[in-house]
Amino acid sequence: MERSRLLFVCLGNICRSPAAEGVFLHHLQLRGLEQSFSVDSAGTGNWHAGQPADARMRAAAAGRGIHLPSRARQIVVADLDQFDHILTMDDDNLAAVQAMSRGRRSRAQIRPITQHCRLHRVREVPDPYYGGADGFEGVLDLLEDACTGLLDDLLATGTPWKPSPSER
Ligand code: 4NP
Repeated sequence: MERSRLLFVCLGNICRSPAAEGVFLHHLQLRGLEQSFSVDSAGTGNWHAGQPADARMRAAAAGRGIHLPSRARQIVVADLDQFDHILTMDDDNLAAVQAMSRGRRSRAQIRPITQHCRLHRVREVPDPYYGGADGFEGVLDLLEDACTGLLDDLLATGTPWKPSPSER
């Protein structure tokens, strides 16, 4: 069966969505499921294209043993058919991706990542860019909840392919 393809989307693609990508990858690795998913992230804006994740977010993630491999890029219309699920961080990102998909028949299901939270009751992942270190930790707490919930929800619906032990 094909891999399930996920795209995480925020505004700049240097804080929240690369963190979501890294957190999700980290939990895939913990469960030996890297082969079952393709994971990427993008921004609705292009100001930071080509840049690694923000150093403050990389440091906060490293404190939890999480590596953020992303280089920023802007979302393109083709992504709507290249991915199965597009997970947005806030209302603006959601509206921007929905506007791109308007009038098209896209493959991707588009929704806020917070829909998968088990512990947090919030609609948006707050933008930590202009705030202090607490903001980055808070975003990671929220994304750990959302990403583990997302992984459990996707596994429960049976979409991804699970490798046999010999294929790992
Ligand atoms: P992100 O955070 O959307 O989580 O990557 C931001 C990064 C940069 C800017 C805004 C938000 N900016 O305005 O440059």
